[in-house]
Amino acid sequence: MVSPSALLACPPTEASAPRLPRQADQRELQAGLLDRPAHIDPKFLYDALGSSLFSAITQLPEYYPTRCEAEIFERHGADIARHAGTAQTLVDLGAGDCAKAERLFPALRPRHYVPVDISADYLQAAVRRLRLSYPELRITPLGQDFSQSLSLPADIPEAGRLFFYPGSSIGNLDPDGALAMLERIRALCPDGGLLVGVDLVKSSAILEPAYDDALHLTAAFNLNLLRHVNAVLDADFDVDDWRHVALFDRRRSRIEMHLEARRNVRVAWPEGERLFAAGERIHTENSYKFTPQAFTALLERAGFASVRHWSDSRGWFSVFGARA
Ligand SMILES: C[S@@+](CC[C@H](N)C(=O)[O-])C[C@H]1O[C@@H](n2cnc3c(N)ncnc32)[C@H](O)[C@@H]1O
Repeated sequence: MVSPSALLACPPTEASAPRLPRQADQRELQAGLLDRPAHIDPKFLYDALGSSLFSAITQLPEYYPTRCEAEIFERHGADIARHAGTAQTLVDLGAGDCAKAERLFPALRPRHYVPVDISADYLQAAVRRLRLSYPELRITPLGQDFSQSLSLPADIPEAGRLFFYPGSSIGNLDPDGALAMLERIRALCPDGGLLVGVDLVKSSAILEPAYDDALHLTAAFNLNLLRHVNAVLDADFDVDDWRHVALFDRRRSRIEMHLEARRNVRVAWPEGERLFAAGERIHTENSYKFTPQAFTALLERAGFASVRHWSDSRGWFSVFGARA
């Protein structure tokens, strides 16, 4: 380990963390709730409590992705760093608690760290901790919803950007959305690269418990979305009316998370209402599982080259490295 202070040399940057305009959130939520079947974008899973719950989920025995990804960086870190090249700026997409990127600092030695996350308050708290450990690292946290567009401040040099998109978050997007996201990243890195964590197709017996654990933390994470919706939309969801459902759809190669009405439920908000029959579901998240060949092809379609991947010892998860 190099000492944190040996990493670089720029003073920390104060950054604001603008969130989505509340009205845009409200319009999006209302449209999803009135649709048939109803759906809510998984980004609404992440208010401050949702981010803390996700962090706890990563420690569950059933939730293998975080441990698999860590094993890959432990076993292949030097090779991955060589392939990634010099990272002047490390852009961490969906940074959460920033812990994964922090573990890469010694190998990648970035001069500037740019964590991006929709959960802006949680991100700011993580960055406050990080600044104490790395006083000389320039850090620019961005509270941004990158589901429709991704932008970086003009003072972040285009050269030497390495994008880091771990935790199989790319799998939350449908195939067209994943391609569009990779294209957005590619457009922002003319000479840099991308490290992306990708979950692989495997047995339902491994996949489903990872999204429906014995302690019911994932259920709490999914149900907390309703409390977040209540706060944003001024709706009156009662968490007790709903139960968590997680299923692997092998044909679509994705885990689906839903909230299912336990009884007939009427939900109201200032601009509307919806009656849900007992058993009716709200679709809250997809998590696509890939083969290495399919994800390599996706990266190449998005304009990346020199694609390599590294897997854990059980072949459950891969980290892909790609150059612009
Ligand atoms: C699955 S968690 C991964 C967290 C961390 N990177 C890891 O790998 O453990 C997804 C992260 O992406 C963030 N996120 C989800 N949707 C987002 C969006 N549309 N825009 C920005 N951040 C988003 C969440 O707040 C959360 O921190």
